[in-house]
Amino acid sequence: MFEFPENFLWGSAISANQAEGAFQEGGRGLSNIDMIPYGPRRMDVKLGNVPHPSLQPDEYYPSHTGIDFYHHYREDIAMMAEMGIRVFRTSISWSRIFPSGDEETPNSDGIAFYRDMFLECKKFGIEPLVTLSHFDIPMGLVETYGSWRSRKVIGFFLRYAETCFKEFSGLVHYWLTFNEINILLHSPFSGAGIAFQEGENRNQVIYQAAHHVLLASAQAVRLAHQYSADNQVGCMLAGGSFYPYSCNPADVWESVKKEQENLFFIDVQARGSYPSYAEKMFREKGVELVMEDQDLEILKTCVDFISFSYYSSRCVAADLEGKAVNDGNIVRSVKNPYLQTSQWGWAIDPLGLRITMNQLYDRYQKPLFIVENGLGAKDEINDDGSIDDDYRIDYLRQHIQAMRDAMEDGVPLIGYITWSGIDLVASSTGQMSKRYGFIYVDKQNDGSGSLERRRKKSFYWYQKVISSNGRCLDS
Ligand code: BG6
Repeated sequence: MFEFPENFLWGSAISANQAEGAFQEGGRGLSNIDMIPYGPRRMDVKLGNVPHPSLQPDEYYPSHTGIDFYHHYREDIAMMAEMGIRVFRTSISWSRIFPSGDEETPNSDGIAFYRDMFLECKKFGIEPLVTLSHFDIPMGLVETYGSWRSRKVIGFFLRYAETCFKEFSGLVHYWLTFNEINILLHSPFSGAGIAFQEGENRNQVIYQAAHHVLLASAQAVRLAHQYSADNQVGCMLAGGSFYPYSCNPADVWESVKKEQENLFFIDVQARGSYPSYAEKMFREKGVELVMEDQDLEILKTCVDFISFSYYSSRCVAADLEGKAVNDGNIVRSVKNPYLQTSQWGWAIDPLGLRITMNQLYDRYQKPLFIVENGLGAKDEINDDGSIDDDYRIDYLRQHIQAMRDAMEDGVPLIGYITWSGIDLVASSTGQMSKRYGFIYVDKQNDGSGSLERRRKKSFYWYQKVISSNGRCLDS
């Protein structure tokens, strides 16, 4: 019978931009995510179709208030500690540390806020796992430099990263450079602050920006190692294998190409160079990367582990004619007839997690870390105040079983982090009704609500999973 290692890191996640709120407190500057409204304009802004996004007085911006984690973090961390988590994943809001992005010195209030939050974690013996940029870049850098289009932004990011390594040294050992780095391809403004001008070659802009992001990531890994031998740094992929719709070789080839596109960034971060298929891919997309002499040398610094989010597998076909499409985590996919979907149309595929883990480990031979997995669903409060989210428990149980199977297959895994520990703003839609947490937050899509926190049934279930070190998965 398989046993999880005693030091296995069970945990839960949030991100600064979906939880903190307090967008203008403590000296924080505006960030790309603050410009993304709730409602019909949301998608256009996220995709970078609005060249100069600005705040509109009649619109609601969910990130401005989040779940007010900024003022509730002690209470929220205490509740997650009660659940028994061993690792808490969050991100640092870059514009809390460098409000415009290009200042010489950091904002001391921002540093104090995160130091206190990490100390709070330590108080409960919780290890923080910190993402430096979770869909987050100061608007100052977007407006003045065009975000990651500019090579100058690498220097600003490294100043920010170095500040974090120095200020939180001894408090944080696990770092991720960029959340779901591949999402830059699909959602350029939310992913990386990139908005397009009319008529631009979007691929050129995206891959040039990605080159800068990759250089920044590699140099941040090097810096983290210089600061402390205890620092471990991972890349972060929006994971989920691409299945061919059928055994028609044309479908299989389509899936190979999609995998390559999806793993492109991780190939660089984990193997230290552009993959063999890059040259042709760039040619076909009309991309000519501008590089400096030392760039290929810089990229040789690799990450220590591969982290990824997993919500569902994807499915692709060479010919889309007559095939239904279903929404996935930003990446669209042909509907897989063998899988059920969530209320938001995301395919539910626990075995897909085992497949993804095996494939990632085969390819990279580095330890894996699942840093997001969960089910977005509507929750109802019973008359007695309880919330019976058995659907969430079922989803998580099946995925933990699949993860255990993959570990038995021989895949080394550092830990398992659910998305999310507590309800927060959904990244894709901006909704609160798409709930992922073990802790319910009384806040609605329009921003109303008392912000009261309450434990769901899944809270007690996960508590048992962790205290039994994964032996007991029953509710
Ligand atoms: C990942 C992100 O894409 O998926 C999270 O890293 C996000 O920020 C999560 O919240 C779930 O997506 P959504 O759109 O349902 O919130």
